[in-house]
Amino acid sequence: MKSRILILGACGQIGTELTNALREKYGNHKVIASDIREGEPELMQSGPFEIIDATNYEAIENIVIRYEISEVYLMAAMLSATAEKFPMKGWNLNMNSLFNVLNLAKEKKIEKIFWPSSIAVFGPTTPKQDTPQRTVMEPSTVYGISKQTGERWCEYYNKRYGVDVRSIRYPGIISWQTLPGGGTTDYAIDIYHKALKHKKYICFLNGETTLPMMYMADAIKATIDIMSAPAEQIKNRSSYNLAAISFNPEEIAASIRKQIPKFTISYAPDFRQAIADSWPQSIDDMDARTDWGWQHSYDLDAITDEMINNLKSKYPR
Ligand code: SER
Repeated sequence: MKSRILILGACGQIGTELTNALREKYGNHKVIASDIREGEPELMQSGPFEIIDATNYEAIENIVIRYEISEVYLMAAMLSATAEKFPMKGWNLNMNSLFNVLNLAKEKKIEKIFWPSSIAVFGPTTPKQDTPQRTVMEPSTVYGISKQTGERWCEYYNKRYGVDVRSIRYPGIISWQTLPGGGTTDYAIDIYHKALKHKKYICFLNGETTLPMMYMADAIKATIDIMSAPAEQIKNRSSYNLAAISFNPEEIAASIRKQIPKFTISYAPDFRQAIADSWPQSIDDMDARTDWGWQHSYDLDAITDEMINNLKSKYPR
């Protein structure tokens, strides 16, 4: 029976930890990691690894056939801040990679897809507090437009061709293993590195910018949970709102100060402020909790503990 998993974008922030978690769950040889570039040695050595450009249909198809892949996790994407600098490149990567995977499923070459969406699907006209699952969506970034469009196509392929595609709208994801790249929520990771290294941080968002956030372990759990749930529980085939906590830079700084009392933060907002200002401050994720039992575990202080404990050996005092 075909039963192997392919991860596209396995060397990225989420892809790295997702690969490790899936290899632990299903066995190293069952999970094929791939990316357009080489990643950390542990990831490349702990199981099969292939260089794949996610915009190249034939390249993905070859690997799908060669390894008898049944599920694809499409984690390759250009995030919000970088896509503002390279709009067409961001659009092409984010959309073409999705169509490649949707079409492989339409052709019955794979059985199941995970594709992440984002809080970036919302825009300045969306209600900011407890943003509902279904509401006004007028995203103002290239990344947000690509994710919203992608959601529509996922639902279309499910309804029209019966494709089993599952998706969640990730908030900002905080992790210590792999650095993020090119997102607006990246400050909430960089701040821990700078707190340990310099005891101070200059933040590219202002202190009051509240955004929905989540610890990586929770994000990985959500991803594996939605993919493991029986198909009939996945009632939403565009993308589920998903929430854990919300905080602003002042609040994360206060949490860090409980452990590093000398830590100071100052503010120099740049173009990413406008992106953050267009996004929700908190998310209503009741559908995910009801349909497939989503629950988060980590609050802000628990995240701070994890981040500082895991990063401190990198920055000896
Ligand atoms: N974390 C992402 C970003 O900031 C949002 O999905 O672009």
